[in-house]
Amino acid sequence: MKNVLVIHGPNLNLLGEREPEIYGSQTLDDINNNLKKDAEKQGIEIKFYQSNHEGAIIDEIQSQRKWMDGLIINPGAYTHTSIAIMDALIAVDCPVVEVHLSNIFSREKFRRHSYISQVVEAVISGCSSYGYNLALYALINQ
Ligand code: DQA
Repeated sequence: MKNVLVIHGPNLNLLGEREPEIYGSQTLDDINNNLKKDAEKQGIEIKFYQSNHEGAIIDEIQSQRKWMDGLIINPGAYTHTSIAIMDALIAVDCPVVEVHLSNIFSREKFRRHSYISQVVEAVISGCSSYGYNLALYALINQ
């Protein structure tokens, strides 16, 4: 495991101000900076990408497919709707870990189904920002 890509889906750019009682007070930059330090300690090169657009997320998965050895993705609300992101993940060879800050199984019914979970190695949900670090360790220990 040398190169890891982290993809954040829609509305995650507003972390810190968006529903802090659910998603916490850390900003996306806080989360990324913390994860970058952790990755560097393990000798991993890490890249971050955020988009509010489904097609842009798919383009990023495709364009990094040869570079990345592992992918961490929080698809935001696309988790529950996107067959297209699911198909893009099937098309990459590397292990993928799905992360959710909140516990999607303890919230509204529509959040309990994930198109993504059925095609990834692991799902981490409800561990807040620490879920990204857990995802990194899961990839390193593949
Ligand atoms: C989320 C959970 C999703 O249901 C929601 O649409 C998000 C964030 C999470 O990290 O808990 O945008 O993926």
